[in-house]
This record gives sequence, structure tokens and C-alpha cells, in this order.
Amino acid sequence: MRHLMSPLDFSVEELDQLMDLANDIEAHPDKYAHACDGKKLASLFYEPSTRTRLSHEAAMINLGGSVLGFSSADSSSAAKGESVSDTIRMVSCYADICAMRHPKEGAPMVACKHSTIPVINAGDGGHQHPTQTLTDLLTIRSLKGHLGNLTIGLCGDLKFGRTVHSLIHALVRYENVKFILISPEELRLPSYIRQDVLERNKVDYSEVVRLEDALPDLDLLYMTRVQKERFFNEDDYVRMKDFYILDKKKMELAPKDMMVLHPLPRVNEISVEVDQDPRAKYFEQVQYGVYVRMALILTLLDIHIS
Ligand code: NCD
Repeated sequence: MRHLMSPLDFSVEELDQLMDLANDIEAHPDKYAHACDGKKLASLFYEPSTRTRLSHEAAMINLGGSVLGFSSADSSSAAKGESVSDTIRMVSCYADICAMRHPKEGAPMVACKHSTIPVINAGDGGHQHPTQTLTDLLTIRSLKGHLGNLTIGLCGDLKFGRTVHSLIHALVRYENVKFILISPEELRLPSYIRQDVLERNKVDYSEVVRLEDALPDLDLLYMTRVQKERFFNEDDYVRMKDFYILDKKKMELAPKDMMVLHPLPRVNEISVEVDQDPRAKYFEQVQYGVYVRMALILTLLDIHIS
């Protein structure tokens, strides 16, 4: 049985197959409409979510399956003190696959050790968010045509942003990918990722504070929000939250074919006027998230449609 804890759980070849499947689902949705008839997805969300929970649920429904679950820790037995390992033992009796989001790093890993069904990590604390990375890779591959030979600006909260952590792990496996890490000093990418992932893989990267300095060189700008819920101190959050605001004027500094992605939710870091710019692809990214999660569910359940 397979789980998805980190984007590295799939080899580059397996990721290619998964993305090919997602593109086939996009082109021929009817072919897959009954692929999961009678199957159930449990969505176990101990932390707020809109896209990740609803897109896993939409993915299962699009495949003909059904969904059950909870959308906050307060509405589950976690509020009574039940452990993740006990919860997953129960859920294994009710469902065929589950997606779990948890504020504690490693909680989905604990779950998969006690589970008899595939577990998908739908975001664990400030650690990883592998299905967002699958979404990002599929969006980049579908819209740019390739995943190598790209200069990628990662902007915002690189310290706590789990989407950025997972995306870096995944992208260093492609040829000639360069990163420009754009963040305030306090929200720099953690040194364990700089050293153990970027430096160990001899990846070309630089760190800048001003977004304007990076924009002219980018093929792709990945914006992120400041992760309010991971701050210990409200004043620090308030000081940091509007550090970056991508607006029309800044977009003038960027190449004509630069693509802007954002895992969403957006707070103030991309002004709404940028939504009209043809380079803004973050709402298309949401749609790719459903296709790739459909492909993931089929892959983890080992269901093949010819
Ligand atoms: C991200 C997350 O939960 O980490 N959201 C998402 O799943 N699309 C990004 C965020 O919350 O900032």
C-alpha cells in the first residue's frame, strides 16, 4: 500500500505518469466518471482549508466516489483527546483512502503507520504540502511545457510556508532550475532546506529582499502569504504581513512570459488588479489541483482505466 507524505515519495518518472494521467483526465473527464464507484474518501482536516479539502472531495466525487469527514479538530473526537493513531484505525474501517491536514508536523506520518488505507498528507504544520506541489508541477508543465530550465522566484514567507518547502524538494530534481529566494530577513528559507536540499544538490540560488530586484530575471514567480497561524507573536505578523504586494506597476518589471502562481489563499500579497494580467495563472492552478488529485486517488488506489 502506498501513501503520499512528501513529493519525493514519487520518482520523476512516476510524477510524469501521474501528470500524464491528470492531463488525460482533463481531456476526457467522462472516461473517469465511474472509476471510483462505491469508493469513499475520508477528509480529516484538523486545520482550516478551502481548496485542499474541497479539491480532494471534488476529485473523489468526479471519479464517482463519495466523501465523509470533518473540517476542524473541534468537530472531531480530537476535541475529546483522541489520538491521531486511534482516529485513523477507525477511519480505516469507514473509508478506502484518506486525506489528512494537521497543524503538527509529522501527524500524517503517524497516521500512515497505523492505517490500513492510503493516507495523503494534505499539509502538516510548516513542514510539507505534497498535493499542492503536484498541483504546482502540473500547472507549470501544462502551461510552460517543461519543468527544467526555469528561473523561479519564491516570494513571501519562506520560513513557515510548507508549499514552498515541498516545491523546492520536488523541483531540484529537474535540470537547470535556479531559485531566487525573495523574503524579509526574518522569514528566510530555513537553513535545513538551504543546506540539505539546495546546496547538497548543487542548485543555483540567491537570496534577495526586494521583489523588484528579482522580477526582471524570472520565468515564474511563486507568491505566498505570510503564515499568520505559525507566528508566536501577533506584532511580528502585523509587521510582516504587507511586506510584499505585487501590483500592476511591479508587473511592468517582469518578462512578458513570466507566470505568476500562488497556492492561495491570497491576503494582500497580490493586488486584485493583477488578476486581469494574462501572466496571472493562480486560478487556473486551482483547476489543475482537481485533475492531479483525481490522478493521485486513482494511483494510490491502484485503479487503471484503459
Ligand atoms: C496553502 C497551505 O495550506 O499551506 N494553502 C493551500 O493548501 N492551497 C497555502 C497557505 O495556506 O498559505
